[in-house]
Amino acid sequence: MIVLTRRRLLGYSARALAVAAIWADAFPLDPAQADAAPLQVRPTFDRTPFSLGVASGDPADDGVVLWTRLAPDPLAPDGGMSGDGVRVTWEVAEDERFTRVVGRGSVDAAPTRGHAVHVEVDGLRPARHYWYRFRVGSWESPVGRTRTAPAPETDIERMRLAFASCQHYEHGYFTAHRHLAQEDVDVVLFLGDYIYEYGTQDNPVRMVAGPETTTLEHYRQRYAQYKSDPDLQAAHAAFPFIVTWDDHEVDNDYADDRSQDDDPPEAFLRRRAAAYQAYFEHMPLRPSRRPRGSELPLYRALPYGRLVDFAVLDTRQYRTPKPCGGRQSVLCDEARAAGGTILGERQRRWLFDRLDSAPARWHVLAQQVMVAPLDVAAGPAEEFSMDKWTAYQPDLLALLDFLGARKPTNPIVLTGDIHSSWACDLHQRPGHPASAVVGTEFAGTSISSGRDGLEISARIQSILPDNPHVKFHNGQRGYVRCGITRERWTTDYRVVPFVSRPGASVETRASLVVENGRPGAHRA
Ligand SMILES: [Fe+2]
Repeated sequence: MIVLTRRRLLGYSARALAVAAIWADAFPLDPAQADAAPLQVRPTFDRTPFSLGVASGDPADDGVVLWTRLAPDPLAPDGGMSGDGVRVTWEVAEDERFTRVVGRGSVDAAPTRGHAVHVEVDGLRPARHYWYRFRVGSWESPVGRTRTAPAPETDIERMRLAFASCQHYEHGYFTAHRHLAQEDVDVVLFLGDYIYEYGTQDNPVRMVAGPETTTLEHYRQRYAQYKSDPDLQAAHAAFPFIVTWDDHEVDNDYADDRSQDDDPPEAFLRRRAAAYQAYFEHMPLRPSRRPRGSELPLYRALPYGRLVDFAVLDTRQYRTPKPCGGRQSVLCDEARAAGGTILGERQRRWLFDRLDSAPARWHVLAQQVMVAPLDVAAGPAEEFSMDKWTAYQPDLLALLDFLGARKPTNPIVLTGDIHSSWACDLHQRPGHPASAVVGTEFAGTSISSGRDGLEISARIQSILPDNPHVKFHNGQRGYVRCGITRERWTTDYRVVPFVSRPGASVETRASLVVENGRPGAHRA
């Protein structure tokens, strides 16, 4: 179903005048599903159905995706909803009090999609804040603020972003999100491990409901519990998010159709389909990205004027099985064998095309696992995690060679997964510090995974001499803030001293810069 809404003619842009209406893709229900799910146009709830908050995402210069999911009882099966579809109305305004409304419409929240709604709002002005809210019956959602991207062809002076990853609910409070919500950034990148699939583990700071997630009902419940967190809701309500996933949205360390425990691939793909469906239902992704069975097209590009181009990668869905025994290993022949890939052929070609063609001052790879090699064996021995780019030498070397040969302007890799902060120079020949620096990697720490953390462990201290390309490390929780101008990229590592109880303060642990035209990180 497509919903047409009228907008006021505000006369501020030729484009908006030409498009005197906003189209919202309200998720076409197929007729069979529509028949199966009668629509409640005026539903009644005895408590708010907006318990999971609101979110926006994937900003374009003319619009953004708005998200919510109805769940009056978040931990109950189906969030406490009946089997009926429900009509949800939405509103977008230029001001927080909704005196200048520029778009409104309605969508149907269907039980087949967990009563989630994804509204693609169009016809907005570039590089502006907007406020949005939803309504169902007499209930109104919290108000979210979002921001459109600048027009692709414009030379903008600066932008600010934050990135975060890895929020294990049982490991601690999401205090870092509370502080992130107070920042002044245009967009937040979330780089994976939005949920953890495990059942309750030893000595949790706070406990998850349900067993290890394997079914759609499990995953929906897990997302509902995470999304009930007020600090996470505050961050979503403050900024649009650009999201990608890592492994724990499905199963620890999975690779394509291979589960951690070597389940039969057909069985694991059924689990993956459930996990992908729940991921889509809970993220502010465009409806065109909804999963088809066990596949979800997640990698994509988002330009921010001519200043930044984001290539958002998916290093899980298409990777070959982990080589060399799969855990921590010397780099065996299997890691170098032709055919090993962390991106898959199609995504790799797409990435290189994008790096070649996007006219951006800074080319950002927003992705999951470390690109820089990290020798984790102290002393002359060399060992690497087989879950990261190093284990997939054909793709790693192809990327570094591409950066060295084609020289896309200022490549910056932003990384999650590792539960600690790292700034690394990317050398064209990994492990050879005398070779040219062709890019810079900033890995961000976790929101809560790994519990309180400490500045640096003895183990990390012992391997730093073996990894001279590492320019900064810290082992506390937090997020990362980046300020970007045409001349300079600045990365601020924001850390909180504890997550085992609420209320930690935040501080900038270190700032590193990359100068335009000079890859490599330096202390500010
Ligand atoms: Fe993680």
